[in-house]
Amino acid sequence: MSIHQDVRVWDPAVRLFHWTLVAAFVIAYLSGEEILDLHVVTGYLIGGLVGFRVLWGIIGTRHARFSDFVRSPRTLGEYLRSLFGGRPQHYLGHNPAGGAMVVALLVMLTLTTLSGLAVYGGKELAGPMAFLAATPVLGGEWLEGLHEVCANLTVALILVHIAGVLVSSLLHGENLVRAMITGTKRSPQHEQV
Ligand code: HEM
Ligand code: HEM
Repeated sequence: MSIHQDVRVWDPAVRLFHWTLVAAFVIAYLSGEEILDLHVVTGYLIGGLVGFRVLWGIIGTRHARFSDFVRSPRTLGEYLRSLFGGRPQHYLGHNPAGGAMVVALLVMLTLTTLSGLAVYGGKELAGPMAFLAATPVLGGEWLEGLHEVCANLTVALILVHIAGVLVSSLLHGENLVRAMITGTKRSPQHEQV
């Protein structure tokens, strides 16, 4: 028999970061072709949020730190085998697959933001990369295509992210979405951290 108790996992900064990011991403994606001012503001916001999260991954609370959830490919393999083998290893913070996804999302969001800044500089002659407009190669239309590809790859990753959250919630028998809202997980006491 296992004793259950509520354990604090995600600090308020992580939760606020996550749901602000979700809202900003939806607005940025939908406004991309339509409302440039709104798009640029939400794009900058996303860049700032990612910057904050990287800093918080170094100096933040226990489960927010990269050192708590970035694991070796071997640990990731073992975790995935345990997950689909029906006896999932339990982690209080991000599990190894979740941790890998966090890194992938932060990298893709960075690339999307940077390519957005480049389009803004090269095409609109604005923002910190406005100097690109003067360069014949980088000032071209192709940067817009690159930005669009980055944005769409990020969307694909997000779909996998959401599927991963739902599948591991089911297989672990715990509601990960609720945990990202309330900050707590209902966990057995024999925790593996
Ligand atoms: C409504 C859709 C979404 C749901 C339900 C959702 C849910 C979650 C959950 C439950 C976690 C924690 C996973 C774990 O327990 O290991 C998480 C983490 C994360 N999600 Fe989402 N997510 C959604 C959309 C997004 C979007 C659109 C983005 C990116 C733009 C995103 C980026 C992230 C990141 C970066 C983390 C890591 C959080 C941290 O450690 O700071 N998510 N998400
Ligand atoms: C992660 C954040 C971002 C997402 C998801 C995103 C997404 C998009 C999308 C989907 C488009 C439409 C592409 C097309 O069909 O042509 C677009 C266009 C554009 N984005 Fe972003 N973007 C982001 C960040 C930024 C940033 C930070 C900037 C600049 C500061 C920026 C500047 C632009 C510009 C100038 C366009 C071209 C608009 C036009 O002239 O039609 N984006 N973006």
